[in-house]
Amino acid sequence: MKSKYILVTGGLGYIGSHTTIALIDKGYKVCIIDNLSNSSIDVLKRIKKITNISPDFFEFDLTDASNAKTFFKKNNKFDGVIHFAAKKSVDESVIKPLDYYYNNIQSLINLLENINTDVKFIFSSSCTVYGQAEKLPITETAPLKKPESPYGNTKKICENILEDKTKIETKLSTVILRYFNPIGAHPSGLIGEDPRNVPQNLVPIITQFAIGKLKKFAVFGDDYPTRDGTCIRDYISIMDLADAHISALEYLFSNKKNNIYNVFNVGTGEGKSVKEVIDSFNKVSGKNLQYDVRPRRKGDVISAFADISKAKKILNWASKVSFDDAVLSAWNWEQNK
Ligand SMILES: NC(=O)c1ccc[n+]([C@@H]2O[C@H](COP(=O)([O-])OP(=O)(O)OC[C@H]3O[C@@H](n4cnc5c(N)ncnc54)[C@H](O)[C@@H]3O)[C@@H](O)[C@H]2O)c1
Repeated sequence: MKSKYILVTGGLGYIGSHTTIALIDKGYKVCIIDNLSNSSIDVLKRIKKITNISPDFFEFDLTDASNAKTFFKKNNKFDGVIHFAAKKSVDESVIKPLDYYYNNIQSLINLLENINTDVKFIFSSSCTVYGQAEKLPITETAPLKKPESPYGNTKKICENILEDKTKIETKLSTVILRYFNPIGAHPSGLIGEDPRNVPQNLVPIITQFAIGKLKKFAVFGDDYPTRDGTCIRDYISIMDLADAHISALEYLFSNKKNNIYNVFNVGTGEGKSVKEVIDSFNKVSGKNLQYDVRPRRKGDVISAFADISKAKKILNWASKVSFDDAVLSAWNWEQNK
């Protein structure tokens, strides 16, 4: 049987590169578009080293309508699209809101204007759309709050665009995956999260501090109404997250219906506090990190973790990698890169 051909936008980034490997491992043919604004061409070589296969690669900016038109005129035989390409820094989006609205929304519009509309489409959304949910764990039906940042708002707007477009295209099927907090790296130690600027997520901050790249490490707030006073998040291994995309594609390809719109949480279903993350890191690395406690940051949600029963039931997917193993893989990557 001919391999299905999947377009992966942002495929050289953190989640895109791990998903590309998972796709190749499952026998899919992959084409990557990336403008390298937050990734390096070296990742393509590393994907080849891990899989022995070099995915098709096109370097261009998806916000450029004429480039997108030219590309899709020549290349439009995709069975599926996984759209990762986006800017993702919450803090930067507050300072440069227009850059975020332009990049994240224009890229999606150019993609939808040019791609054949009989594809299976998967979109990278985020638990940020829930804000501080009233009930925990968070189900997909939880009311969406006013986003705390322009970045979060781009995710909500892109979900709305895809829902509206899917309604009018009888052969377009769309799955929205709302990721919780991806952590860790590929077991080969060859690819992982490699932020260009100072990291904003807890695990790369911890690993960079532990290796000496960051001089200070602060925990913001230890007086929250949680079991140890620090914020709680749902940390999902990057390997499990990559697999969730495969499960979502399989669900779409095997479905008799041609026109589906569905939303799934992708997390472990279990919350870990900031202090528990530090304890896990200390356990797997043998270190004893010293940190400062600073006041709470504006906009930080107290606690967020996913109800993953919908993904379990419909996508037949659940996380498998243990929390400590995911943290260890992040530490191995930090020491290897
Ligand atoms: N990492 C997280 O914590 C997290 C959580 C929730 C959702 N997401 C979403 O998942 C997706 C992937 O995140 P990631 O962590 O892999 O980010 P990343 O920055 O590592 O990867 C994104 C890739 O897209 C590329 N890109 C950005 N704008 C582009 C454009 N206009 N044209 C072409 N390429 C472009 C970048 O060069 C990069 O390689 C993003 O949509 C992000 O918002 C990430």
